[in-house]
Amino acid sequence: MFDLIIKNATLPDGRSGVDIACQDGIITAVEAGITAEATEVIDAKGYLVSPPFVDPHFHMDATLSLGTPRMNVSGTLLEGIALWGELKPVQSVDDIIQRALRYCDLAVSMGLGAIRSHVDTCDDELKGVEALLEVRDQVKDYIDLQLVAFPQDGVLRDPTAMANTLRALDMGVDVVGGIPHFERTMADGAESVRQLCKIAADRGLMVDMHCDESDDPHSRHIETLAYETQRLGLQGRVAGSHLTSMHSMDNYYVSKLIPLMVEAGVHAIPNPLINIMLQGRHDTYPKRRGQTRVRELRDAGITVGFGSDCVMDPWYSMGTADMLDVAFMGLHVGQLSSREDMAWCFDAVTQNSAHIMGLGGYGVAKGCAANLVLLQARDKIETIRLRADRLAVIRKGKVIARKQPSVSNLSLPGRPKSLDPADYAPKSPS
Ligand code: FE2
Repeated sequence: MFDLIIKNATLPDGRSGVDIACQDGIITAVEAGITAEATEVIDAKGYLVSPPFVDPHFHMDATLSLGTPRMNVSGTLLEGIALWGELKPVQSVDDIIQRALRYCDLAVSMGLGAIRSHVDTCDDELKGVEALLEVRDQVKDYIDLQLVAFPQDGVLRDPTAMANTLRALDMGVDVVGGIPHFERTMADGAESVRQLCKIAADRGLMVDMHCDESDDPHSRHIETLAYETQRLGLQGRVAGSHLTSMHSMDNYYVSKLIPLMVEAGVHAIPNPLINIMLQGRHDTYPKRRGQTRVRELRDAGITVGFGSDCVMDPWYSMGTADMLDVAFMGLHVGQLSSREDMAWCFDAVTQNSAHIMGLGGYGVAKGCAANLVLLQARDKIETIRLRADRLAVIRKGKVIARKQPSVSNLSLPGRPKSLDPADYAPKSPS
């Protein structure tokens, strides 16, 4: 007698007609024809069953604050930072907690099982840190929330940022963050990377820096981040987020930079939705795309995970916690249009980001955590194409969100009476 059996699933690796049995929060069998009884049985009807979506880059202290205290008129990163600076002093710890909890409700409904959120440490009261530590505890049964100490105004530029960042880490924030391109000078940016990586090395922590979120091809803090990572032996524990300046860099320089990143085992976290919106704002035409060199980083062997960054906050007015929107945009901006590339975009919002966050027990395999999502689509590519509905979200073997399949009823002469968008999958997707 199992807690849960999902019948007739298609898996991300392409296997179909598979049953998945779960017991005590763990996947205990993944095979065809499981006949045992279970407390709950779900018929997947051939739809895809995936491990949950993972967002490796988010700002939960700012989410759902859109319009408070005003809108971002220019649409730029810098006005967004200024607007956030206006909101910080007037929001309470409880305001942040309530917004974050509402966002987590939405995230669960969209099949998100893990989120890495940066939390601003440029606040002498550390209201965001206090709030998100509380939220991390409150949601732990349904979302793995990993927090990054993020000195938004520059760890060297803001006079109390270093002390507050250290205090946040002492309070239990998980990861060391930074924003070298926002320091006063290139030299200060590089120095901030050195100091923050040293803190991570001393404390045995991971690093995730906002790095070169700029159209300036000379913003090269990723070079320093890669150098410090290998110098301090932090390989595999460091991520560079955004990396948008790489889009504008000289090709010859990039031919040296990417091998340095590979040597250092630095991960890359592009944020397609926000950066297609923010970057290139100083351009007339042609306007640069706001995305780092995803294909080249991936092909070099760097783990690339797509993040969402923002939902309805001072920087981005859109967003529904849908990592398939993120994959869809990353696919288009990166021109990742082959079958292999499109399928890889699904990995970039699931397993790649789980690897970057260091999540254990992630996957659809015996012994993994029974955290799963049933999607109304028949393979990874179709899931992105359709931004497929999440029919069931399962955490530790229990269904925590359900949705009826989207089926349209048609009244057309001589045509079918109903339409399932998943039935439009190509006949021979190879
Ligand atoms: Fe960010």
